[in-house]
Amino acid sequence: MNKIRAAITGVGGYVPEYILTNKELETMVDTNDEWITSRTGIKERRILKGEGMGTSYMGTKAAQEIIRKTGIDPKEIDLVICATITPDMPFPATANIIATEIGATNAFSYDLAAACSGFLFGLATGAKFIESGTYKKVIVIGGDKMSSIINYQDRATCIIFGDGAGAVLLEPTTEEVGVMDSILRSDGTGANFLRMEAGGSRMPATHATVDAKQHYVFQEGATVYKFAVTNMAEVAAEVLERNNLTGHDIAWLAPHQANKRIIDATASRIGLSDDKVMMNIEKYGNTTAGTLPLLLWDYEKKLKKGDNIIFAAFGGGFTWGAMWLKWAYNS
Ligand code: UT7
Repeated sequence: MNKIRAAITGVGGYVPEYILTNKELETMVDTNDEWITSRTGIKERRILKGEGMGTSYMGTKAAQEIIRKTGIDPKEIDLVICATITPDMPFPATANIIATEIGATNAFSYDLAAACSGFLFGLATGAKFIESGTYKKVIVIGGDKMSSIINYQDRATCIIFGDGAGAVLLEPTTEEVGVMDSILRSDGTGANFLRMEAGGSRMPATHATVDAKQHYVFQEGATVYKFAVTNMAEVAAEVLERNNLTGHDIAWLAPHQANKRIIDATASRIGLSDDKVMMNIEKYGNTTAGTLPLLLWDYEKKLKKGDNIIFAAFGGGFTWGAMWLKWAYNS
């Protein structure tokens, strides 16, 4: 009997309507369009406005698009995983809220926190439930409302991040498509350079933590950049090498959208030209767990059955990893 593989059989996405441009940021902090564009490749990002609107709102929209496009009955969904570091609330899990919103009443659901690598970790985890034969329909969502934890007076972070969510449906196949291999890593010393300090059990919210702006993302950008450039490129190269693949075999690189310079370095390390690199950083910025599924959402129509795709991510934790996936359908 052929091995059961986990194939992506549907993609959905959602980005909020409000567009925060580099020009508008110029009115908020001491920055300029030229600096942001040349250092990051970002031109604009989306912001979720409105009281009571959290990550579940965007994740629900993304998952509903999959249900609409694939025609599946939500009651058939076995599991919903939501990768996010900006859950609606510390508990219950945002995935619980989304599963109920989409009518997945027979599913269990949980959140996964791995920052910018969250979707990749979620995809690898969801795939194992399919490959083991345990489940037949798994929805993996990656999404973040980064604007809820960004200090719009801190020019080192506010220019990078944006809001958005994407989702995929995983189903079993015995064809040679789907998740083929992945390498995932983490290193907790990364908390020194990228973190949100307060609001957890170590430092619960107080007036003092709010005054000290400890509920916002802190990032030592240049240090994170060095780790990201090296680790994302190396892990992508490693997944190719151990599967005897070269750049010639790869149709697409789907890299985390944190900085165009990190993306370029990763593509160059594995010998890929620009036309094989998925990129939408210019319009959404860094949506943390949202970047990889939003790439699939934007590029779905260009993907062909059998295309070799390499995902690569690096983020807070530190967390990083790469995955080789064969695309399963023509749209
Ligand atoms: O997605 C999760 C993982 N995160 C990442 O992968 C992000 C990795 N880091 C980066 O992408 C980059 O480090 C940043 C885009 C965050 C910053 O770019 P950089 O080239 O590393 O700049 P820098 O922090 O070394 O700062 C260079 C200069 C500094 O001025 P001085 O000290 O040289 O006079 C900064 O104060 O640029 C200044 N600067 C800015 N200038 C205008 C920092 N932010 C800004 C800004 N506008 N927004």
